[in-house]
Amino acid sequence: MSTSLADARSAELYRRALLLLPGGVNSPVRGMGAIGRSPIFVDRGEGAELIDVDGNRFVDYVCSWGPLIHGHAHPAVLEAVSAAAAKGTSFGAPTAAEVELAAEVARRIESVEMLRMTSSGTEATMTAVRLARAATGRVRLLKFAGAYHGHLDPLLAEAGSGLATQALPASPGVPASAAAATIVVPWNDPDALRGAVERSTGRDELALAAIIAEPLPANMGLVPPREGFLELLRELADSCGALLVLDEVISGFRVARGGAQELAGVQGDLTILGKILGGGLPAAAVGGGADLMRLLAPAGEVYQAGTLSGNPLAVAAGLATLALLDESAYLRLSSITEQLAAGLREAALAAGRPVQVVSVPGLLTVFFSERPVRCFDDARACDLEAYGAWCRELLSRGVYPPPSQFEAWFPSLVHGPDQVQRTVQAAAEAFEAL
Ligand SMILES: Cc1ncc(COP(=O)(O)O)c(C=O)c1O
Repeated sequence: MSTSLADARSAELYRRALLLLPGGVNSPVRGMGAIGRSPIFVDRGEGAELIDVDGNRFVDYVCSWGPLIHGHAHPAVLEAVSAAAAKGTSFGAPTAAEVELAAEVARRIESVEMLRMTSSGTEATMTAVRLARAATGRVRLLKFAGAYHGHLDPLLAEAGSGLATQALPASPGVPASAAAATIVVPWNDPDALRGAVERSTGRDELALAAIIAEPLPANMGLVPPREGFLELLRELADSCGALLVLDEVISGFRVARGGAQELAGVQGDLTILGKILGGGLPAAAVGGGADLMRLLAPAGEVYQAGTLSGNPLAVAAGLATLALLDESAYLRLSSITEQLAAGLREAALAAGRPVQVVSVPGLLTVFFSERPVRCFDDARACDLEAYGAWCRELLSRGVYPPPSQFEAWFPSLVHGPDQVQRTVQAAAEAFEAL
C-alpha cells in the first residue's frame, strides 16, 4: 500500500524559496529532484531523527551528509560549542584549540604531521591542488570518474571520449582550459589507470602533479576499491613523481579512527578532511608531511588564507566529536551498519527486488542493480526511477534516505536497534509497494 507524506508547510516554503534561492535550495541535492519530489524543510534534529516543518518525524540517514556521526544536537557537542561561543565566535587570530585539533588529527592519521584548516572541503581540495602543483612544478591532475572533491574548476571535469587525455568541463562556467588539465579515469580499472599514467610520463607538459582519489568513493554511491587498487595508486604516483592526494572528507574518522588510509594500509602525501572534523560546523583541512605542508604561507610561499579558517566554534565541535570516537565507538558503528545492511538485504530478497547492498562501517548504499557496482558506469546503469520511487515510499514511512542513488547512507552512533528495526520494516514495505 502506498502512503503519502503531509507536506503543506514544506510545499509553501518551497514556493517562496523558489523566488529567493536558485532551485529553492543552497546545495543541489537538497532539492530532491533526483527522486522526483520537492524538498522537505527541516525544523529540527533529535539524535538519529529529523523533524520537518509539517511535524513529520524521520529516521535520518543523511545526517548532514556525514558530519553528524553522533547524531543531531549531541549534548557534548552542544556544550563544547556553547562554551566556545560564550568566549567569542571568531577572532581571526590563533587559538589553543586549533593546536589541539591539529595534534589530535596527527595522532589519528599517520601520514598527517601538519594541518591547514579551511571552512569547506572544496577549499581544502583547492589548497591541496595548489600545494601539489607548487611542490611538483607540474599542472596536470588525474581523478576518477564518479568521484567528487568539491566544486572547484579543475575537478569539475568529466572524461572525454575514448583514450582522450583531456577532460571536458562538467558544468557550464568551468573553462575548457581548467578541465583540460585533468585526466579522468574509470575507478577500479587498473589497466586504464596504468595507461593514463604511462601516457602522462616522459613529456613535461603532460606530467602529473597529483593523483587524487576518494580511497572509499561514496559520491557515486559507495564503491569500495578492488583488492590492490589503492596500492596501485600509491605505486604509480611514486613511479611518475606525482603526489597522491587522498580525499577523506567522507571516510575520515568515519570508517576507522585513522580513516580509510588506516584500513587500507596505504598513505597519501596529502589528505583532505572535512565533515566529521567540524562536528557539524563548517571546518575542513588539508594535511600531510611537514616538509610539504611548510610550503604553505606564511611558512612557505604557496598562498592560501581564510577569514573563518580554524573558527573556534567549529574547532570546539570537532574536538568534542573526535573525543567521543574511541575504538568502542567504531565497533558499535560497524555493528549498527551491519545490522542495517543485513536487514535491507533480507527485505529486498523477500520482495524479490534485485539490489546490491554495499556497506563499510558507517556507510552504505542500496544500488538498484542486478549486478555488482564497481565503477561510475555501473552506478549510472542502476534503475534510478525505481530508486526514486523507493525513496519516496521510505519518506512516507518515516525514513529519510539520501535522495539520490549516487549518495551514501550515513548511519550514526545514535541509530539504535529500534530505529534500525523501523527502517528495515519501512524498507520491506517500500520494496513491496514498488
Ligand atoms: C569526498 C568529498 N570531497 C570534498 C567534498 C567537498 O566538501 P564541501 O561540501 O565541504 O565543500 C565533498 C562533499 O560532499 C566530498 O564528499
